[in-house]
Amino acid sequence: MAKSRRKAEVERDRARRMNWWRRARFGMFVHWGLYSQLERGEWVMHREGIPPHEYGKLASTWQPRPDAARDWARLAKAAGMKYMVLTTKHHDGFCLWDTQQTDYNAARSGPGRDLVREYVEACRRCGLKVGFYYSLMDWHHPDGWRCARSESARRRFVDFTHGCVRELCSNYGKLDVLWYDVPAPLDTAALWESEKMNRMVRRLQPDVIINDRSRMPQDFGTPEESIRAAAGGRAWEACVTYNGAGVWGYQPAPPEDWCSVRAVLGMLRKATAGGGNLLLNIGPRADGSVPEEAAQRLLAVGKWLRKNGEAVYGDVTQADWWTTAMHSGAWTQKGRTADFWCTAWPGRELAIGKVHGTVERASLLPTGRTVEFEQTRERLVLRNLPARCPDRTAGVAVIKLEGKSKLSQRMGVGWTLA
Ligand code: GLC
Repeated sequence: MAKSRRKAEVERDRARRMNWWRRARFGMFVHWGLYSQLERGEWVMHREGIPPHEYGKLASTWQPRPDAARDWARLAKAAGMKYMVLTTKHHDGFCLWDTQQTDYNAARSGPGRDLVREYVEACRRCGLKVGFYYSLMDWHHPDGWRCARSESARRRFVDFTHGCVRELCSNYGKLDVLWYDVPAPLDTAALWESEKMNRMVRRLQPDVIINDRSRMPQDFGTPEESIRAAAGGRAWEACVTYNGAGVWGYQPAPPEDWCSVRAVLGMLRKATAGGGNLLLNIGPRADGSVPEEAAQRLLAVGKWLRKNGEAVYGDVTQADWWTTAMHSGAWTQKGRTADFWCTAWPGRELAIGKVHGTVERASLLPTGRTVEFEQTRERLVLRNLPARCPDRTAGVAVIKLEGKSKLSQRMGVGWTLA
């Protein structure tokens, strides 16, 4: 009994902490570090076998321009994103903050600045929630690999790791999201002492939301490069690259490799339909500047969201996957409202098969203009629509259907009435 009460309490506390996050839907992931200078992604050290002492020289040549973080935060805000997550330390082990745990950090070598502090201040100035990415795997720390084979090395490395996390949770004010990554080479939460680490994190940051990559499930799942719900109805956030190459750190890419505005909106739609979040990555150049392709397209996404945001933000009470069998678009759904994201405008009339539940009203976002309709058991026909797609930003127009009760589209396999 006491156990189930305790469990209910944990769930209540989680719901409270995650309330903003569930409604936020859209965040910016920032991969930025020494590797940005080499312009071949964030795995370059490993993939090219660059020895740590060689790679470490990149610290002395890294000269990020002032206010880089301010520009990301402004862009995120303009794009309709509600939070950011920055790589405070990626697998290369270089810490972007002023840490006592190692001199291999941006304050004591190279830039001579606490880049994490600059980032936190920039987020706050723009009213964005603050997230820290932290890679457990570390290619620089002398015990980073050895810890799997030697208990004394493990002891040192776990102390180092917990020390880093403690600083991040102590020195920058309120932290909204802690985003661990790659818990290698230690195979269990016990070896990382993750339970203890996360308990410390929660003591220091009672409202923080923690992802599932410390070998413990914690608050949310993190599907990568694919937008799909986490198992068991858990909260989830899909993290995705933007430039097609599956590369998170800066690497030049031709314009056609970047996701189009429509593709980004498509990802947002899918995340929304499944009740999840989308964490879209930008890999700034070494100086901190954002590739033009990313910036321009994000601004257009933001413009679209300012008009159509009601289809995206807020609680998704029904996280069903609606069938996407329509030629002309796909759905999101919140309670009694079903939004049809029309990506191939049909002209004056749109027929939708097998809508179950009574439609009470149909209208167009963002104007709220009423749309005439006729509903029979087999089909819903919307009439007198504008001849051309009303959305000039991306050719994605949202038709809002309000149901008497929850609506659904059940296609089945044949024509016959269900
Ligand atoms: C993978 C990659 C890493 C990237 C992360 C983002 O774990 O190893 O480079 O930062 O995905 O989710």
